[in-house]
Amino acid sequence: MIEKINRLKAEIESLTAKDLAEVDQLRIKYLSKKGEVSLLFNDFRTVPADQKKEMGQALNALKNLATEKIAALRESLETADSIDPTLDLTRTAAPIPLGSRHPLSLVREEIISIFSRLGFTVAEGPEIEDDWHVFSSLNFAADHPARDMQDTFFIQRNPDVLLRTHTSSVQSRVMEHSQPPIRIICPGRVYRNEAISARAHCFFHQVEALYVDENVSFADLKQTLLYFAREMFGSETQIRLRPSYFPFTEPSAEMDISCNLCGGKGCSFCKHTGWVEILGCGMVDPNVLEACGIDSRKYSGFALGMGIERITNLKYQVNDLRLFSENDRRFLEEFQSAH
Ligand code: DAH
Repeated sequence: MIEKINRLKAEIESLTAKDLAEVDQLRIKYLSKKGEVSLLFNDFRTVPADQKKEMGQALNALKNLATEKIAALRESLETADSIDPTLDLTRTAAPIPLGSRHPLSLVREEIISIFSRLGFTVAEGPEIEDDWHVFSSLNFAADHPARDMQDTFFIQRNPDVLLRTHTSSVQSRVMEHSQPPIRIICPGRVYRNEAISARAHCFFHQVEALYVDENVSFADLKQTLLYFAREMFGSETQIRLRPSYFPFTEPSAEMDISCNLCGGKGCSFCKHTGWVEILGCGMVDPNVLEACGIDSRKYSGFALGMGIERITNLKYQVNDLRLFSENDRRFLEEFQSAH
């Protein structure tokens, strides 16, 4: 009997059928009352008691195999039959709603595009940094408050591993590995230990620009800034530079643009001054060039850094920083038509 079971097993495993009628014939042949498998169940009565267990299991397995095989044959023929040949299966099922680009990405791309027209190329650096690239190489004094835990997120102390607080760290990374002419723009995320509010966040985005070559002057910086401001905010935009201080630039300045909401007449947005601050800049301090292996007697350079959120706030009048990271679709969808 076991040979018969094995023979039928092999036979059933290799069954094929061209159409549903053939499947039905197979069902009758094996599984109907007088079918081959059912007949074996009749023989089962004559099996000696000590073999009944083994034989019973083999028989049940055979019956399941036949049932499954025939069902599978039927299913494959039925689904093939049900496909209407006039259907276009390559067509999209339903309209897929397109997402919109994040406002910060839109503005970042626009900044990159403006600077690339002046020959700047994009450079990137790590967000997890060390003290040297974020502070020491950039001429920060040992007791500068930015090195404090209150301002900087430290991952580890001694040696320091920290989240970069500005994209100026990419300046020193690039200068360490290349010689002038250097003309780069560095977009990226930065972190600061700040309480989250409408006006401050523990992470935000910056773009840094650096130009180092022979005879780079403050006039080059000013012209670059004016070009950027007018491309970004319109050809009527005015700029003004106020003296400032950064450890890595000397002299340093902050740039204001004429308020693009009131055109410089004075409104609540510009606190009735007609001007809004948008970035920090200056001539790269010779100490920074030297720290990064660049000859400060031969080369000079300018650098500037701006917050992408700030530029976006001005351009699109967003006045709560938290909106940028909350992923509220009602906010994000407002930028659908921009670009
Ligand atoms: N790193 C400065 C900040 O985070 C921004 C900045 C100011 C960058 C002046 C510069 C610069 O390159 O020259 O506030």
